[in-house]
Amino acid sequence: MNHLIRKIKTQTIGLIAIAVMVTFTAIACGGGSSTQTTAAVGIPPEKVVDYIHTVLLADRTAYTKHVVNRLKTLEGKEKPNGVIDAEATEGWQETGGVPLPAQMFRLGSEVALENTTEFTYNLISTWYINDSHNPKSEFEKVAMEEVNKTAEPYTGYQEIGGQTYFSALYPDKAVAEACVTCHNTHPVHLERYPDKQFELGEVMGGIIINLPVDKT
Ligand code: HEC
Repeated sequence: MNHLIRKIKTQTIGLIAIAVMVTFTAIACGGGSSTQTTAAVGIPPEKVVDYIHTVLLADRTAYTKHVVNRLKTLEGKEKPNGVIDAEATEGWQETGGVPLPAQMFRLGSEVALENTTEFTYNLISTWYINDSHNPKSEFEKVAMEEVNKTAEPYTGYQEIGGQTYFSALYPDKAVAEACVTCHNTHPVHLERYPDKQFELGEVMGGIIINLPVDKT
């Protein structure tokens, strides 16, 4: 009899111990910041930049498809004044229109910079219209050259202000005729790069993502 009670007691204590451990783990994981969670699960930086890139691209495409395009055409029908009387235009602040997808992307990256120092992202190009898209660091220059040649993502480590970053540059290609037409006829483009005319499918620039990592 005594033996049986002792056995039940031991089992109960064992169950309580497991329950305490589970609760502790849940609190430990739930309370950590995103960096700690990433480190704990061990997602490699190559994966993290891929995730970020997927979200950035998805948002830009969704904005183009579901906002910019709907200003011109609604449910297959062209409307002279669009769905609302506005258009996506570079001078949107002056004309009362909405930003171009590339401008929306830059505005997003500026907001992100106000909210986090964890990572940064930007559009860059050898043939930039906006000066903030000029490849600046040595890494960006080399990466941009490579991506122009290969049309494949380029990754590596770079150091900026004493901090090591895992950086990835993803090609941004002329997926639509509109990309080519607008850039090739843009006054800044014509003035700066009179000999450069983009073609459909060509690399026009790239999305750079910089992820701070601990020095190894
Ligand atoms: C209606 C004109 C227009 C269209 C269409 C357009 N762009 Fe742009 N693009 C611009 C302007 C203007 C900028 C500079 C935006 C800024 O001030 O941030 C820009 C910026 C960029 C940049 C960053 C380098 C730079 O020139 O400053 C890349 C890369 C780019 N566009 C690629 C594309 C791709 C790819 C497409 C098609 C999917 C596209 N653009 C469609 C006008 C356009």
